[in-house]
Amino acid sequence: MGVIISRPGIYLPPDILYNSDLEKMVDTSDEWIRERSGIATRRISFDKGVVEMGIEAAKDLENKLGIKLKDIGIDMVLVATNKHDKGISFPQHAAKIAEALEIDNAWYEDRFAGCSGDVGNIISARNEILSGDVKKILLIAGDHLTSMTDYSNRNTCILFGDAGVAKIIQSSDYKGIYAGYRCGSFDAGDKQKPEWKDGFLRLEPKQGMRLSKDDEGKFILKSVAQNYMGMEGREIFKFAVKAMEKAIFEVLKKADMTLDDIDYIVPHNANLRIIDNTNSSLVKKGFKGLMLQNVAMYANTSTASTALTENYFIEQKVLVDGQIGLYVVFGAGKNYGAYIKRNTYDVNLFKK
Ligand code: UT7
Repeated sequence: MGVIISRPGIYLPPDILYNSDLEKMVDTSDEWIRERSGIATRRISFDKGVVEMGIEAAKDLENKLGIKLKDIGIDMVLVATNKHDKGISFPQHAAKIAEALEIDNAWYEDRFAGCSGDVGNIISARNEILSGDVKKILLIAGDHLTSMTDYSNRNTCILFGDAGVAKIIQSSDYKGIYAGYRCGSFDAGDKQKPEWKDGFLRLEPKQGMRLSKDDEGKFILKSVAQNYMGMEGREIFKFAVKAMEKAIFEVLKKADMTLDDIDYIVPHNANLRIIDNTNSSLVKKGFKGLMLQNVAMYANTSTASTALTENYFIEQKVLVDGQIGLYVVFGAGKNYGAYIKRNTYDVNLFKK
C-alpha cells in the first residue's frame, strides 16, 4: 500500500506589510531586512484566525481538486499550529474546521510542535494510514504569528507572516511518501542557556505593540499587554543549518535514497541565508536539484511555510506530477524533521 498526498489548498490574507512599513515602526531598513533575511513582504491577517484561515484553505483545496471534503470519507482532521485562537485548548481547531466543512464521523486533533508541526502531522498521518486504521486524512496547517509579534521589537517583527494551508493524505496503490524523519534535539544546536526560560523561541508576557489597522485601512500600532514572541535569532540560525542538514541525510537514509534521487527540496522558509547555507553545503555534497523558496513574498509562515511554497511553484509550473521532493523543517522546541514524496497531483486520485 502507498500513501499519497495532494497538492495544497491555501489561504493568504489580503493585507501586505512591506519593509517600508516596518521602517516607520522600528529602527530598521529595507536594505537590512532584505540582506539579512531575504524578506520583502509578508501577509497579515486581521479578521481571520487559524480556524478561519484553515477553512478558507480547505475550500481552496476543494476547488483545486473538484471535490467536497464532506463527501469523500475523511477519517481524521489534523491541524498543525502554534496559535490557539482563543488562547484555550478546546474545542480544538480541527473540530471547528470540520464542523464548518460538514466533515462528520471523523477524529479531530490539533498538534502544537513549533514550525515543524505540519511535517510532524504528515509523518503521523502516513503511519496511521499504513497501520490500516484509517484511509483518508485532512491536514490543515496555519499560523497567526503576527498576533503574537511585538511590532516594537526589530528582532522579531520583520520575520513573520500569516497563512493557512490544507492537503489530503490517503492510502493508494501508488507510492507517494517514501519516508519521514522527526527529531527534537538540543544536540543539533548549542545547549540552551538558563536565561532563555523556554528555549530559543518562546512566548513572554509584556507590554508590546500590536499591529492593527485604522478606519482608512492604514497600519497602526496599539500598546497591548499580552504574550509576545521572544527569540534568540542567531542561535536559531545556527541550529537551523545543522538540523536541516541532519534531517535531510536521516530521511534519505530511511528511504534508501541519495541526493541524486531528489529533484527538489522545499525547506522551511524562515530566512534566505539559512536556506542558502543549507543549499551550498548540499551542493558541495553533490546535490544537483532545485532548492525552492519564496521567503521574499510571504516571510516565515511557520506551519504553513512548506505547503505555501509548494503551491507557489505548482502555480509557476516548476513542480509537476512525478517529481521527487524532499521537505525539511525546523522550529520552536528544537523540533526538526523531513519527508520525501513523489508528486501525485492527478486530482482523480483524491476523488474516491
Ligand atoms: O521558525 C523559526 C523562527 N526564527 C528564525 O528563523 C530566526 C532565525 N534567525 C534569523 O533569521 C536571523 O538571525 C535574524 C534575521 C533574526 C537576524 O540576523 P543576523 O544576521 O543573525 O543579525 P544579528 O542578530 O547577528 O544582529 C546583527 C546586528 C545587531 O547589531 P549590533 O549588535 O551588531 O550592533 C542587531 O542589533 O543587526 C542588528 N539588528 C537589526 N538592525 C536593523 C537586529 N535586527 C535588526 C533589524 N534592523 N530588524
